[in-house]
Amino acid sequence: MEYCNIKGMRASRIVMGCMRIADKTLPETEKVIVEAMSAGVNTFDLADVYGGGDCERIFGVAVRDLEISRKDYILQTKCGIAKEADGRITRFDFSKNYILSAVDGCLKRLNTEYIDMLLLHRPDTLVEPEEVAAAFEKLQAEGKVRAFGVSNMSAMQIQLLKSADIHVVANQVQFSPAHTALVDSGFNVNMYKDESVQRAGDCLEYCRVHGIALQAWSPLLYGFFEGSLLNKERFPQLNAELDRLAEKYGCTSAAIVFAWILRHPGFSQVVTGTTSPQHMKELCVAADIKLTREEWYSIYLSTGKVLP
Ligand SMILES: NC(=O)c1ccc[n+]([C@@H]2O[C@H](COP(=O)([O-])OP(=O)(O)OC[C@H]3O[C@@H](n4cnc5c(N)ncnc54)[C@H](OP(=O)(O)O)[C@@H]3O)[C@@H](O)[C@H]2O)c1
Repeated sequence: MEYCNIKGMRASRIVMGCMRIADKTLPETEKVIVEAMSAGVNTFDLADVYGGGDCERIFGVAVRDLEISRKDYILQTKCGIAKEADGRITRFDFSKNYILSAVDGCLKRLNTEYIDMLLLHRPDTLVEPEEVAAAFEKLQAEGKVRAFGVSNMSAMQIQLLKSADIHVVANQVQFSPAHTALVDSGFNVNMYKDESVQRAGDCLEYCRVHGIALQAWSPLLYGFFEGSLLNKERFPQLNAELDRLAEKYGCTSAAIVFAWILRHPGFSQVVTGTTSPQHMKELCVAADIKLTREEWYSIYLSTGKVLP
């Protein structure tokens, strides 16, 4: 396993995402955690809204049952999406009181005294950066949160937070060979093509310049949870290329996808949502595979993208 440095924390480049664990039994989840940690994964990604809070609750119970020492893992969770009991999203909320009470809820469900990294889940257009800064200062002073990041934010949205002296250490964004908006616009600057459209406002380059760790979510999916890119009928050329490289490197095609994301110097981490111990084991080898520049581009082009 390779590691990256996020604000002094040695974080695994492959992160176990826990969005889907509420669909599994506790022993099943414990098995994935054990498999992940034995492969070197030390970072876990959650959110207060996953499973309506159940994912945080289950994770808290699992690490307690497994007697994993709190200092042996990096716990990341998110807040800022307000949902009704029936699951409807009613607003994004970065107000001070909302953040403070959301974090108290996370700590309780996770059964822990502190969160290593708290991410603001989706940008709130009514954000007052000074209010967020005040919330973060209080959380840090009380020892409840060690570092702060964001998710799904453009460069200028992060810059807005920085105007209130907020230190952003990570940005979690959607990225996969079938979801490449972050790099498409960089290849097609100033052209009259759909790919030229800046969908994330130079977020990739901005995060690199400012040392903000980019984390890729839904690495194996396309669209907004539309399906798996490993679907050979939907993506025949891509899968042929993934299979070819899987054979070369002696791993699965899913692991090649992870190696492709980690080969990009802008991406510090990839977040897997697998709930299968076998898949976890197969994916974790990706952190030790270094694709060539030619291979990186051949995967990009195999989705039907063209270079100008
Ligand atoms: N910040 C955000 O807005 C945001 C949004 C979405 C997700 N996330 C985070 O990102 C994590 C990953 O997202 P995701 O679960 O949508 O993405 P993913 O890891 O690309 O997809 C996981 C799904 O793919 C399936 N899968 C099929 N074949 C697989 C294989 N060979 N290896 C691994 N998985 C395979 C998994 O099934 P099995 O369980 O059977 O392996 C699982 O259902 C989440 O857990 C969450 O932490 C963040």
